[in-house]
Amino acid sequence: LVTVRELYRNSSKYVDQKVRIGGWVRNLRDSKTFGFLVINDGTYFQTLQVVFGEQLDNFQEICKLNVGAAVIVEGTLVATPKAKQPFEIQADSVYVEGASTPDYPIQPKRHSFEYLRTMTHLRARTNTFQAVFRVRSLIAYAIHKFFQERDFVYVHTPLITGSDCEGAGEMFRVTTLELENIPKDEEGHVDYSKDFFGKETNLTVSGQLNGETFAMAFRNIYTFGPTFRAENSNTTRHAAEFWMIEPEMAFADLDDNMALAEAMLKYVINYVLENAPEEMNFFNQFVDKGLIERLKHVADSDFAHVTYTEAVELLEKHNDKFEYKVHWGTDLQTEHERYLTEKVFKRPVFVTDYPKEIKAFYMKMNPDNKTVAAMDLLVPGIGEIIGGSQREDNYDKLIQRMNELGLREEDYAFYLDLRRYGSTRHAGFGLGFERCVMYLTGMGNIRDVIPFPRTVKNCDI
Ligand code: 4AD
Ligand code: MG
Repeated sequence: LVTVRELYRNSSKYVDQKVRIGGWVRNLRDSKTFGFLVINDGTYFQTLQVVFGEQLDNFQEICKLNVGAAVIVEGTLVATPKAKQPFEIQADSVYVEGASTPDYPIQPKRHSFEYLRTMTHLRARTNTFQAVFRVRSLIAYAIHKFFQERDFVYVHTPLITGSDCEGAGEMFRVTTLELENIPKDEEGHVDYSKDFFGKETNLTVSGQLNGETFAMAFRNIYTFGPTFRAENSNTTRHAAEFWMIEPEMAFADLDDNMALAEAMLKYVINYVLENAPEEMNFFNQFVDKGLIERLKHVADSDFAHVTYTEAVELLEKHNDKFEYKVHWGTDLQTEHERYLTEKVFKRPVFVTDYPKEIKAFYMKMNPDNKTVAAMDLLVPGIGEIIGGSQREDNYDKLIQRMNELGLREEDYAFYLDLRRYGSTRHAGFGLGFERCVMYLTGMGNIRDVIPFPRTVKNCDI
């Protein structure tokens, strides 16, 4: 079998030659003596037209095919300079691998993304989703390549954990206890000693704490895996299950961290523009006009930097435009993040040094004792795509912060050990993989960049 992508990329090699392709019928027309099949073979979102005539033994069978059928076609590739598509196949044979039925839900017309979300098992057979999920796969590869080329060790951190890294209490509980008769102690608390692990456990919200233990052994590491958050936010940017990339570097501070994040994002942009030109042109034409030019510009220019305090001063002047008013101490909402990156800086911007109250316990306290060495990277169209920080490496300060927040030392004994045995300055960040895919494809809804989305009230397939 030759791939349709190969035919488009190197057509001169194949014109007037015999070719063989396997694919699915996207459209078909027939008359008494001949017909056309439009085939997509999955290697490229473009289709290939196949002309078949009544001389084929199974001419009647082919005429009766429905959209969605799987076929293997053998024939001659013929140039068709006057037609919409540059070439077609004149079939010597069309072997029907698997027929389809007339109720196949993806008919040859434009379907809305909303409609296609109701059939995640079939939507990958449409042009847009072919392009999205192929590029998603490439971005994953590019991210691994970026870190591997820099000698970062890929760590597989666990999905089931006993800690809440972000301290936001947005965890999915993991338990084998039977819902009807969960054992409780005298005070009515669930008795987890009877549970599988003998303690309370949940799906991880972040691999960072485990990642830090490896950074203290390997210096530079990264994780790349699924994370879970039971956030009740029904937005276009939140999923309950999403993938995160979390590098962690020992002997590094917040500036090193931001430099790494910027280099990584630029690397991935360049990689995708270079290695998926067809898909990127498709997005540029049909999903987000101007996408390619914008991404090229981002890859070629420096990201902006602003402290949280400066950002709040800038935003306060525009409070009349916002649903949520900004004051020093409030967390930035998507509307504020987007205003900063789209209207003020007009490029990706790092916001640094947030108030400690709105950030996680592990972030390094700044000398002002009010802010922490945090950084969020905001990008146009999305808002926060990366969240990171330098970590508190001082044992006493970390304990103090944990006490203030009511975290139990025994739950974080391993984490505290890292500050007792050869603590070093260190820093890392988390890139939301789906948000990265949205940014690079111009797709507007997180549900359309993850193959099988899990969001509030939605866990199909
Ligand atoms: O800012 P967050 O919560 O940071 C952490 O989890 C740190 N432990 C990372 C680290 O320093 N190692 O999440 C990081 C990124 C966000 O910037 C966002 O892109 C993405 O993860 N993210 C989500 N993406 C989709 N759906 C959600 N519900 C998300 N929550 C966070
Ligand atoms: Mg964050």
